[in-house]
Amino acid sequence: PAALTCHQDGGLLVDNGRVVVCGEYGAIRDAHPSAATIDWRGGFILPGLIDAHVHFPQVRIIGAMGRTLLDWLDAVALPEEARMTDRGYAAETAKLFVHALASHGTTTALVFGAHFADATAELFEAASASGLRIASGMVLSDRLLRPELHVGAEQAYRDSTTLIERYHKRGRLRYAVTPRFAYSTTESMLEVCQQLMSDHPDVLLQTHINENSTEIGELARLFSWARDYLAIYERYQLSGARSVMAHNIHATSSEIARLADKGTAIAHCPGSNAALGSGCFPLRRHIDAGVRCALGTDVGGGRSMQLDCCICRRALVPRQLASRRRSEISGPGKRQTSCICVRRREACWKRQSATRPNPCRHCHRSLRLQALRAFAKCGWKALLYSRWTIAECRFKDDDTC
Ligand code: GUN
Ligand code: ZN
Repeated sequence: PAALTCHQDGGLLVDNGRVVVCGEYGAIRDAHPSAATIDWRGGFILPGLIDAHVHFPQVRIIGAMGRTLLDWLDAVALPEEARMTDRGYAAETAKLFVHALASHGTTTALVFGAHFADATAELFEAASASGLRIASGMVLSDRLLRPELHVGAEQAYRDSTTLIERYHKRGRLRYAVTPRFAYSTTESMLEVCQQLMSDHPDVLLQTHINENSTEIGELARLFSWARDYLAIYERYQLSGARSVMAHNIHATSSEIARLADKGTAIAHCPGSNAALGSGCFPLRRHIDAGVRCALGTDVGGGRSMQLDCCICRRALVPRQLASRRRSEISGPGKRQTSCICVRRREACWKRQSATRPNPCRHCHRSLRLQALRAFAKCGWKALLYSRWTIAECRFKDDDTC
């Protein structure tokens, strides 16, 4: 059957909370004349959405914009993640999180747990009670974050094993070994992950890759033997068909080919890529090479649990257009030194560096207004108070939001 089937006048027969038949309304009505009908004409009934990358301990910090990855982790995300050491707080957050998933139409998710085993167990308990299909795991890091988020290799192995035994394949739950990213994991921790993957041949693996250029630069120092980001995970056999890696914005052609070869999936997180100014994901290059791609919200880097990209697109397409116009005027291979004014639709004379596009006063105001209007329409009033910056974002011509 086709991957997507659409019924213009569809019907869904539900018996005792379970979907029994999906098809044409008329046919279902005729076959079940006594069934009570709820009329949803004018709306859509969709299957549950799948979020391939989202962080449960970040659900309360959605919308803090204006920082790039490492700065945002330090100032916003990690202080909140450290609060998960309080089991009661983690339990409340887990309930809030699974409720947020369901209320945004997401019924399956691959979720970054907490750095603490107890807090991660709370997520599994909340997920189990909710009936959602959740794969998750305790986040593993042993350097360069706040010290209270670090865990030794032996404890990481013990805690992960206990969680796998307790939750993997319990109902709809699955375990995913979760090294946060190569930047915060030493080689001993990556060895632990390799061991866990080998001990449990059907658990998943999730991590981040090629998200931010500063992060990538640091890795060249931390893993000087590695020829690129993916090579770090490859050395510990962490890139395979059971792995989902988030972002991969700054991937080389060789990395993309190797991901396709091993069947590693990429979680594309457009909302987060834009909000953290990480860059634009080269989706076309991945699809053409045969890499499996899925969508992730990456909350709280992403600003919404809503999987459809409408907010992102409405707010951010003008930024891409501006970049496209910039390159059209400067031409291929030429140094891009001027800003394309969104309001006047022509090059303005504000000089800027090629690597840090810096829009002129008109563009900046116009982009900001468009973003705020889009957010306001979607009911995200809180975001009106957040800081908006586009200075760190770079675009390439073949990119997609
Ligand atoms: N890289 C390491 N940790 C994180 C995180 O929490 N969010 C994002 N977007 N990238 C990361
Ligand atoms: Zn993430």
